[in-house]
Amino acid sequence: MKILAIVAQKGGSGKTTLALHMAVCARRQNLRTALIDLDPQGSAHDWNESREDGDKLDAVKAGSGQLAALLKQAQAGGGGRPCHCGYCASFR
Ligand SMILES: Nc1ncnc2c1ncn2[C@@H]1O[C@H](COP(=O)(O)OP(=O)(O)O)[C@@H](O)[C@H]1O
Ligand SMILES: [Mg+2]
Repeated sequence: MKILAIVAQKGGSGKTTLALHMAVCARRQNLRTALIDLDPQGSAHDWNESREDGDKLDAVKAGSGQLAALLKQAQAGGGGRPCHCGYCASFR
C-alpha cells in the first residue's frame, strides 16, 4: 500500500478535492481503492454517495479511532461494499 500525504494547514485549499480525484484515478486504473473519510463534515463521503451507483468508490465515514483497524482490513484485502449497519465502519 502506497501512502501519499496531501497536507496544507489552510482549510478550503483543495486537499479533499485532490484526494478524491486521485481515488477516482486509482479506481479507473483498476487499483483496489477505499475511501475512508475521517472528517466530521464528511464531504468526501457525501460526494461519493451522490455519484451514480456504478461510479461509487467503496467508502466509509469513520472516526479517527477506527483508522488503524480500517487500514489493516483494507491491507488484508477486505474490500467490497461498506457496511451500512450504523454501528460499525467496515467493508464487507
Ligand atoms: N482546483 C480547484 N479549482 C477550483 N475550486 C476548487 C479546486 N479545488 C477545490 N476547489 C473547491 O474548493 C472548495 C474547498 O475544497 P476542499 O477540497 O474541500 O478543501 P480542503 O479539503 O483543503 O478543506 C470546494 O468547494 C472545492 O470544490
Ligand atoms: Mg477537506
